[in-house]
Amino acid sequence: MSESKTSQGTKNKANIIAVIGASGTGKSSFIKGELLRSYSRLLVWSPLEKSDKYGSFCQGVVVTGKISELVAQVKAGAKAIVYVPTGKDSEVKIQFDRFCRIVWELENATVLVEELSRVTMPSWSPPAWRNLSTAGRHQGLTIIGTSQRPANIDKDFLGNCTQLRCYGLNYDGDAKVMADALGLQITYEPGAGGKPVAIKPHRLLRDLPNFHFFHKNPDKTVRQGVNKSL
Ligand SMILES: Nc1ncnc2c1ncn2[C@@H]1O[C@H](COP(=O)(O)OP(=O)(O)OP(=O)(O)O)[C@@H](O)[C@H]1O
Ligand SMILES: [Mg+2]
Repeated sequence: MSESKTSQGTKNKANIIAVIGASGTGKSSFIKGELLRSYSRLLVWSPLEKSDKYGSFCQGVVVTGKISELVAQVKAGAKAIVYVPTGKDSEVKIQFDRFCRIVWELENATVLVEELSRVTMPSWSPPAWRNLSTAGRHQGLTIIGTSQRPANIDKDFLGNCTQLRCYGLNYDGDAKVMADALGLQITYEPGAGGKPVAIKPHRLLRDLPNFHFFHKNPDKTVRQGVNKSL
C-alpha cells in the first residue's frame, strides 16, 4: 500500500455492520432495502443465492465456486460481483479465505457476507476475515455480515461492529450473546396486582415479532423499530 493510501486510510471511519436474526426475520430485506441502496463497488458472499438472488438485485456478475473467475471479474472492474461458494465445508472455507484476501485489496468497496456461522466459529475465523473485521477501515471498506446463530460466529466480529441490527432469535444462547452485545438492560412490566415483573434482556430478543429489531447505532445508543414495508 502506498504512503498516501495509508495516511488516508487511517482517517477512514470503520463501517462494520452485523445483521442478526433467526431465519425469515427480515435481515436480507433490510440489507437490500437500506444498506445496499448505494455503493461504489460491491462484493457479496452468497451461499443461499438461489433464494437470496443478489445477482439480479444488484444486476451483478454471479461467479459460482471459481476463485480464478472472481479474480478476473475484480480485475475487469465489475461494479457488483456475487460469489456463490460451492463444494464441501473444507472447500468452502478455502474459498472464503481467498474471497477475504481479494476483498482486502479493494478500496472503498462494500462487502456483504451472508451467514457467517458457515465460515467462522466463536473462537476461530480465517485470518483474512479477522483482518477485514479488525482493520477494514484502513481500506475504507464497508463490511456487512449476517447470522441466524450469533452464538456460533466469531466473537471479534460482533465486538468490532460499528452498528448492530438484531431481529428475533429462537435460542436463549443466541439471545444472550446479542443482549450483551447491544447492552440491553432488565426492563419491568406490570404484573399481577400491578406489581412490576422483571423481564431479562435476552427475553426481549426472544419475543420480537418478525421484522422488528433492536439497532445499536454508531454512537452506541440503541433504538427499536420495524422494517419498512416492502
Ligand atoms: N416488513 C416486511 N413486511 C412483510 N414481509 C416482509 C418484510 N420484510 C421482509 N419480508 C418478507 O419476509 C421474508 C423473509 O425475509 P428475509 O429474506 O429478509 O429474511 P432473513 O432474515 O434474511 O432470512 P434468512 O436468514 O432465512 O435469510 C421474505 O419473503 C420477505 O419478502
Ligand atoms: Mg437472508
